[in-house]
This record gives sequence, C-alpha cells and structure tokens, in this order.
Amino acid sequence: MSDTETLKTDLLAEVEAASTLQELDDVRVKALGKKGLITAQMKTLGKLSPQDRKSTGQALNMLKGEVAKAIEAKQADMADAELNAKLLSEKVDVTLPTRPESEGYIHPISQTIEEVVSILGEMGFGVAEGPEIEDDWYNFGALNIPDDHPARQEHDTFYLPGTGEHGRKVLRTHTSPVQIRTMMAGKPPFRVIAPGRTYRCDYDATHSPMFHQVEGLVVDKTVHMGHLKGTLIEFCRAYFGVEDLPVRFRPSYFPFTEPSAEVDIGCTREGGEFKIGHGDSWLEILGCGMVNPKVLENCGIDSTEYQGFAFGVGIERIAMLKYGIPDLRTFYESDLRWLRHYGFSALDVPSMVGGLNP
Ligand code: DAH
Repeated sequence: MSDTETLKTDLLAEVEAASTLQELDDVRVKALGKKGLITAQMKTLGKLSPQDRKSTGQALNMLKGEVAKAIEAKQADMADAELNAKLLSEKVDVTLPTRPESEGYIHPISQTIEEVVSILGEMGFGVAEGPEIEDDWYNFGALNIPDDHPARQEHDTFYLPGTGEHGRKVLRTHTSPVQIRTMMAGKPPFRVIAPGRTYRCDYDATHSPMFHQVEGLVVDKTVHMGHLKGTLIEFCRAYFGVEDLPVRFRPSYFPFTEPSAEVDIGCTREGGEFKIGHGDSWLEILGCGMVNPKVLENCGIDSTEYQGFAFGVGIERIAMLKYGIPDLRTFYESDLRWLRHYGFSALDVPSMVGGLNP
C-alpha cells in the first residue's frame, strides 16, 4: 500500500470512530489543518521528481477531498442525531391533565362570538371578514345610506384623515360593510356571518366607542322571509338555551333592508328580577330584514334573479343578557377579578354537540 493509501485508511477510520462533534473537529485539524498530516505531505512534493510530483500531488488532492467529504457527511449525521435527541428529551405529553392551579380565562366577548359561530356554523354559515378601517362607500353608500341620510347621524361616526378609493376613511360603525365586501368578491349564493369590532362615538353603561357585532347574510334565488324567521328563531332559542323562547318580529326600518324588522325575545321583569323566557315583557336583541334590492344592485347582483336576508346582532348586548353582566364598560377594564368571575375556562369550547354554556 502506498503512503497516501495508508493515510487514507487511517484518517477515514478516525472519522468513523469520532463520537462527538469535538472529536470530529479534532480529526479535521489533524488531517487538513495548517499543521495537519495531509498538509505536511503536500509540503514534501517539492522534493520529488517532476514525474512523481504530479502523481503524488493528484493522489493527495483526491485524499484531501475524500476526507473533507467524509467529515462533512458525518457532521450532518451527528447534527441530525443531536436534534432528534433534543426533540425526544423535550417531548410534551399533551394527554396529561391540566394543572389545576393554572390561571387564564376566555373573555365573555370571545366566548359569545364562539357560541354564535358554532350555532350558525352548524346551520351552514361560513365566517367572513372585513377591515375595521373602511371607506365611506362600503360603510354607508353601498348600504343605501346616502350622504344626507339621517341614519348617518345615528351612527356617530369616527372619521379618519385621508380618503380611500371609495370615499372618506371611517372606523366602521357596523359589520354591515362585510355584506358588501362579500357580495363584491364572489358570486351568489352566499351564506356568511361576520363577527368583528365596530366603532361609534358614544359612551355610557350600555354604549362603548368600541364594541362588537355579528353580521349575517344569505343570498340565493329562492330565499324568503320564512327562512329569515326560521333561522333567527332557531338562533335565539339555541343561544339562550330556552327551547320554547318566545321570539317576535316587529316591523322596523333600516336603509339596507326592505322590509326590515327588529327581533324581540320574551322576558319577565318581576320584583326587580329579570329573566329571559316566558313572561309579559319583550326585549329587543337584533335587527334584520330582506336585503334591499338596491344593495344587491350596488354589488353587481341581479335583483330580479336573487334575493336575500341579513341580520346584525350586538355581541356585548347578548352577552350581558345571557351572563347577567350589568355594565358594558366593565368588558374593557381588564380587571382580573371581573374576568375570574365572568370568564370561561379555556377548555369550555362551545359547540352544538358538546353544549353551549348555561
Ligand atoms: N347594521 C345595523 C346596526 O348596526 C344592524 C343591522 C340591522 C344589520 C339589520 C343588518 C340588518 O344586517 O339586516 O344598527
């Protein structure tokens, strides 16, 4: 065996034997370092005859390449093995029970949105989204609320500096612009709900400048008022957990629906006590109606072929009613004692199968 071959056998065996990244690096220095064995051999080339210099030089270069490659491959193997060992040692058993002392609560707003989504999701609604900073046209114009319409005043709009492609920038005053965005972006039929934040310049025990709504929209060729009533009666009964909850549709007015209605649920107020269910009193909980044909046309939908219904629910309002929360402002005070009292366990995920909360 030539010197080069012996050296190759020895070095590759050392690479193979190295059991840590440090040992492997030691072999690298020993073979390829400035004072390494291969480097030392290279330095002797000058003393050889031109003939031998060429062949030995080539052999040494090949050796250098092979040893370097073997070290690299081994390094990659070791890094893999190290990562696998690390992953194994950091394994978490997700089936272990939770620690009873752990804290953290789901906010009633999030929980209520989840409940609404699970009830309507079960009925086949998908969830749609839109921006909180809207252009005037999406928030008002397309919804048949022109500039001089009195409904604009009722909305106490926060106007922002700047103008978008579709008018002045506003903080959306309701989730209804998501109806427009949904209809503009796709082709009917539509069956969506859009939960989200809304803003109005208003502040007292039942109003906050930022609050939440869920919008609903159904558009198809044969949708009629019966579908609207069925959907909302079913929704109210499921949400409040009262199977025979009285639900009343009272004629009302919204520019974007025709006809429009407000929905009341039955309740009792006796001796200062308030209870949802049977009784002689009614409580308004949401607005709805058949989508105004003008709104469909504004979104490029042929109103002689399609019709639809829509509804809008105030999340805080229905959360306050169901969970007996008296003051809306407390939702946003980030008071831990309040959250411990009104919040929900992270594992209390509402669903139609597992049950909504009492
Ligand atoms: N956007 C209305 C509001 O904020 C609520 C509403 C009423 C939404 C009727 C609707 C609807 O989709 O059909 O007061």
